[in-house]
Amino acid sequence: MKKLRMILALLLALSLAACAKSENPKSDAQPAQENASAQADVLVAYFSATGSTKEVAKKIAAITDADIYEIVPAQAYSSEDLDYNDDDSRTSIEMNDPEARPKIGSEAISLEGYSTLYLGFPIWWGGAPRILSTFVESYDFDGITVVPFCTSGGSGIGQSGDDLARQAGNGVWQAGQRFGADASEAEVQEWIEGLQ
Ligand SMILES: Cc1cc2nc3c(=O)[nH]c(=O)nc-3n(C[C@H](O)[C@H](O)[C@H](O)COP(=O)(O)O)c2cc1C
Repeated sequence: MKKLRMILALLLALSLAACAKSENPKSDAQPAQENASAQADVLVAYFSATGSTKEVAKKIAAITDADIYEIVPAQAYSSEDLDYNDDDSRTSIEMNDPEARPKIGSEAISLEGYSTLYLGFPIWWGGAPRILSTFVESYDFDGITVVPFCTSGGSGIGQSGDDLARQAGNGVWQAGQRFGADASEAEVQEWIEGLQ
């Protein structure tokens, strides 16, 4: 009889534990992600000082049904900072210093669960702004396909994707793509379709 009571108690404990687990199916969920949607495995991360790259990033996110993350500088770039005619402007100083790593002010994002990352930036002095170096050196891209894209006044993407790949140290980096500030959705869509 005592043995039977022990077995019954054990069965009760097991069934209570099973109930508790089924009421909390998200207990094993991935870490919270900014703007994350339940099923997305594509992320568009971008830095944009004056809005052009942001527009392209939004188009990519809409076409690929991706989450989107803005790399926001801890200290915003003023128009004086962006003056490329001034050798002493903040951007001139940063771009002349390969070791410059401007701080990111936006909350960090978990890359867990993402298999593709579109990484966008404006071209500054022929390359990616130094804050992109801060970004790629802060994250682990193991198992992620990274697709760089940029906007510019006319320059191509050049070596900037390769430079960022080297700084990142891992991830599968694809050839990057340059867009004009006025890139149409059709142009962006055609590029994305050509990637697959
Ligand atoms: C500091 C600075 C340097 C730039 N250097 C270049 C350049 O080398 N080649 C180019 O075509 N455009 C250059 N541009 C223009 C930007 O790449 C272009 O306006 C871009 O679309 C801006 O993107 P955003 O609005 O997302 O910041 C430069 C702009 C700035 C502010």
